[in-house]
Amino acid sequence: MPLRIGLAYNEKPSAEDEPPGSPRPIDDRFAEWDDPSTIAAVEAALAGAGDVIRLEADESFPALLRDTRPDIVFNIAEGLHGPNREAHIPAICEFFDVPYTGSDPLALCLSLDKRRAKEVWAAAGVPTPDGIVVSGPADRSHALSVPVPAMVKPLFEGSSKGIPEAALCASADDVLARVDAVLAEYRQPALVEEFLPGREFTVAVIGNGAAARALPVVEIRFDALPAGSKPIYGYEAKWIWDTPEQPLQIFRCPAELDPALQEEITRTALGAFRALGCRDWGRVDVRLDGRGRPRVLEINPLPGVLPDPEQNSCFPKAARAAGMPYDDLIRTVLRAGLERYGIA
Ligand SMILES: Nc1ncnc2c1ncn2[C@@H]1O[C@H](COP(=O)(O)OP(=O)(O)OP(=O)(O)O)[C@@H](O)[C@H]1O
Ligand SMILES: [Mg+2]
Repeated sequence: MPLRIGLAYNEKPSAEDEPPGSPRPIDDRFAEWDDPSTIAAVEAALAGAGDVIRLEADESFPALLRDTRPDIVFNIAEGLHGPNREAHIPAICEFFDVPYTGSDPLALCLSLDKRRAKEVWAAAGVPTPDGIVVSGPADRSHALSVPVPAMVKPLFEGSSKGIPEAALCASADDVLARVDAVLAEYRQPALVEEFLPGREFTVAVIGNGAAARALPVVEIRFDALPAGSKPIYGYEAKWIWDTPEQPLQIFRCPAELDPALQEEITRTALGAFRALGCRDWGRVDVRLDGRGRPRVLEINPLPGVLPDPEQNSCFPKAARAAGMPYDDLIRTVLRAGLERYGIA
């Protein structure tokens, strides 16, 4: 009997589907969701390992999962509602006792909440920038306890939603204005963080336990950004300046690093992955502080996997640098999941 693999995904709506009067542009609200081409590429890769059953992660998902009962669900669904959205599909899989790839609900919730992730890392001795959270207008003055320059970010977003260039604040007035903008536009707390001025890297991690390994480190090259822009890999860099027609040459992989720093970055990323209890795969964003030491900005336990090598997608890029083509990458993640459950 071939392996029956469910593919759980959220497909990005096209601009024409945008409901009238939407509060924010569609490409922001659904920025984390996948394009049809990515879903098709993951499906094609999985088809080399078994029979694939598409399980769109919408309201039909629970009944579809109950009725189809695949041997394992390959999860790339980002979810929609609330700070626990990434955990919904794994939690439903657990409810129906169906195995699934990737991190469990607890690790996904901790990772999406940048404050909780940082608390876990601090307790585990994984370095991360200092920061404080402003929950509402009443405590906005707390933001000023973080020295400028500072970064102001929504607490539970990804894909640089709510992190435009203005998120890097040079003055106390800028910080307060940005805190107000996050509270109002994203209706969630704002994380105010010390700005790390050094080089930035992202590290793809694959596998579990002692076998978890880092793929070649990707450097984010701020010199590839338009002249005069701020040195962050934020909303404009990901969604405006980088187009399929003219991709920004923003990644260097493998990063040029002296061996000691490379080891420190890799060790820090693996430490961040393990401390949160992530499984099978994840991507850790790391930046050097003023003393040149790596600190963890955040972790993405559901990393983006655009299939086109011309498009900027760190995880597949790091895999290619390790000699692992796209289909192998997807099947390696699947295998990591299957091994955890002892499925042959
Ligand atoms: N404390 C910080 N110091 C320096 N730069 C930062 C800091 N926090 C964020 N940045 C910059 O902003 C970018 C986006 O921040 P972050 O990775 O936290 O957001 P995200 O939306 O979760 O990202 P992703 O698209 O990877 O999901 C980082 O890649 C980095 O360039
Ligand atoms: Mg990031």
